[in-house]
Amino acid sequence: MHEVLVTRKLDPAVIIKLSETCNLDIWDEDTAIPYEELLTRIVGKDGLLCLLTDNVDAKVIEAGVDTLKTISTMSVGYDHINIEECAERNISVGYTPDVLTDSVADLAVGLMLNVGRRITEASKAAQDGEWDFWRPYWMTGVDLSHATVGIVGLGRIGSTVAKCLKGFDCNVLYTARTPKPDLEALYGMHYTDFDELLAHSDFITVHAPLTPETNKLFSTAQFAKMKPTAILINTSRGGLIDQDALVTALTNKDIYGAALDVTTPEPLPTNHPLFKLSRCLILPHIGSASIATRQDMGNLAAENLIAGLNGTSLPQQVPLPLS
Ligand code: DGY
Repeated sequence: MHEVLVTRKLDPAVIIKLSETCNLDIWDEDTAIPYEELLTRIVGKDGLLCLLTDNVDAKVIEAGVDTLKTISTMSVGYDHINIEECAERNISVGYTPDVLTDSVADLAVGLMLNVGRRITEASKAAQDGEWDFWRPYWMTGVDLSHATVGIVGLGRIGSTVAKCLKGFDCNVLYTARTPKPDLEALYGMHYTDFDELLAHSDFITVHAPLTPETNKLFSTAQFAKMKPTAILINTSRGGLIDQDALVTALTNKDIYGAALDVTTPEPLPTNHPLFKLSRCLILPHIGSASIATRQDMGNLAAENLIAGLNGTSLPQQVPLPLS
């Protein structure tokens, strides 16, 4: 039997699957395991099943290094794990791409519609008694249909957003490390550089991982290049946006609106200025939160972990950097 630490109360099906071959030490709560607890409990474990809320840094990896073979995160993002340290220590890392792609893309499109057509804002106004008459110009917003949409990052989720936008007859621009002519042809979109995308897009949706290169990719200079009517959507990681600069850009009406499913920190304190801006919609990181997707993510995380512990290749392994 393998010794495994599970950092959260998970779906019973996941626990049953793991129990067949593992002795489980479970942080059996619906709250994040405290860092000190993670540091203590990792000692002597062969495997770790963690979530994006766990800071699996060099210290944690070092604490478990004598036995630790595999880390499996129930997320597609892995910026919470020190991947360089794992590579050095020969620890495999599993993650959960693909199974959540459609859910996150759905949400990104939903957020474009929501902020563009002021859905949450209008609902709140109705609830607050501001709906006195039907007024011809009240709560008018912008259409997603026929809009120019800029996709930043054309991985699995970015390209699925492009596929969805075909149905809205959008003019889709994208930036990526390299042009992807096959996808361009499939979804009728155009590769541009970042500045062009900023200048021409009515909606910009971010689908890039958080890395030192993408940290604060959107800051004052980028907001200044965007249209005053533009709407920014972020469902990737909060760190890609300089939130202080976003508050200023929205307050000064340099851009029209924003929707953030991810923030820095998470949770975003309720007194944060972004919560006070009517054209800024904040969600509590629910990109992959459909019942089916979360089940699939749990199953895949368990499969990755078991494969790693058995010394076979992981169904979805994070590519480790060359040391
Ligand atoms: C992930 O899995 O990294 C996503 O952020 C979940 O929505």
